[in-house]
Amino acid sequence: MPDSVSRPTAADMAPAGPAAAIAIRDLRKTYRGSGKAPPKEALKGINLTIPRGSIYGLLGPNGAGKSTTINILAGLVNKTSGTAEIWGIDIDKHPRSARAAIGIVPQELNLDPFFTPREILDLQAGLYGVPKAERQTDRLLEAVGLKDKANAYARTLSGGMRRRLMVAKAMVHAPPVLVLDEPTAGVDVELRQSLWAYVRELNRAGTTVVLTTHYLEEAQELCDTIAIVNHGQVVACDSTAVLLGRLDAKEMVVTLDQDIAAVPTQFAGFDASLDNPRRLTIRYRPTQTRVADLLGAMAAAGLSVKDLSMVESDLEDVFLQLTRTPASVDGGLR
Ligand SMILES: Nc1ncnc2c1ncn2[C@@H]1O[C@H](COP(=O)(O)OP(=O)(O)OP(=O)(O)O)[C@@H](O)[C@H]1O
Ligand SMILES: [Mg+2]
Repeated sequence: MPDSVSRPTAADMAPAGPAAAIAIRDLRKTYRGSGKAPPKEALKGINLTIPRGSIYGLLGPNGAGKSTTINILAGLVNKTSGTAEIWGIDIDKHPRSARAAIGIVPQELNLDPFFTPREILDLQAGLYGVPKAERQTDRLLEAVGLKDKANAYARTLSGGMRRRLMVAKAMVHAPPVLVLDEPTAGVDVELRQSLWAYVRELNRAGTTVVLTTHYLEEAQELCDTIAIVNHGQVVACDSTAVLLGRLDAKEMVVTLDQDIAAVPTQFAGFDASLDNPRRLTIRYRPTQTRVADLLGAMAAAGLSVKDLSMVESDLEDVFLQLTRTPASVDGGLR
């Protein structure tokens, strides 16, 4: 049970606090085999420094080791070796204080079906030693859109509502670090937006947020920094902008007014192909080719252009490029 004495909160830790909200060094985990199942080396030396105040995305294919990493921080899985600090507190030396500094929304929903959201939040607050006067049950329920379900049995909540209740549950002790393991899985688009708005609000108020998600466009939109994990290792870790800039690739798609039979000779020096008689796609590297050159080739070929569109590389391209390895046959995006 976490000790209430050294319970750091986002509010009282905001001005000071450590530079890194979470620091993980050479973290390794091998799950013991059982029966016919051989041992599984799930983490092969993870290093992560999660800056205070960031919204940090942990991405990777199924089985990459994201939940294992998070569950070690939560004290739910025992690591094999390595170190981890939460808010500057070593999880081995001061497990209770470390755990009090973090709120975790696990991937698996584990709510007692016979309690109401209000009871669940109150119970959790009691476990963390939050005095009655400091509890923010109603505010939390409102923030996650469950005010009108405050007194309904958890078993009568929909999947999306349960997940939102889990977020509120993780926040009852106002931890400076909130970790969300796939918080929006099964949450509909509208509610997902409101959940993200709440996450942003918490972040603005000083909470460092770490999340895993399979919705890459969401990570792209929400996270300032992203680490990509594959086969128990961090294969990329950078600001979202830098990560996106890594792919020096763009496409220009030209829709024509008239049919053409082949790629015009003016495009011989480019990687161009004719998708159909009226659609020409040119792939190029923005660092090496100017759009003006492409437009020049178009004019020289006398093409009658109906429409032009540019296709930018996105996080999905980066992700696939970094995780598409022969050994990742068990991986892939959901
Ligand atoms: N309790 C366990 N016992 C044995 N192996 C496990 C256990 N938990 C996880 N693993 C294995 O460890 C590896 C990493 O799993 P983990 O759940 O951390 O992946 P993940 O990145 O969270 O994947 P997902 O995106 O599917 O949630 C997988 O190969 C998984 O099968
Ligand atoms: Mg997982």
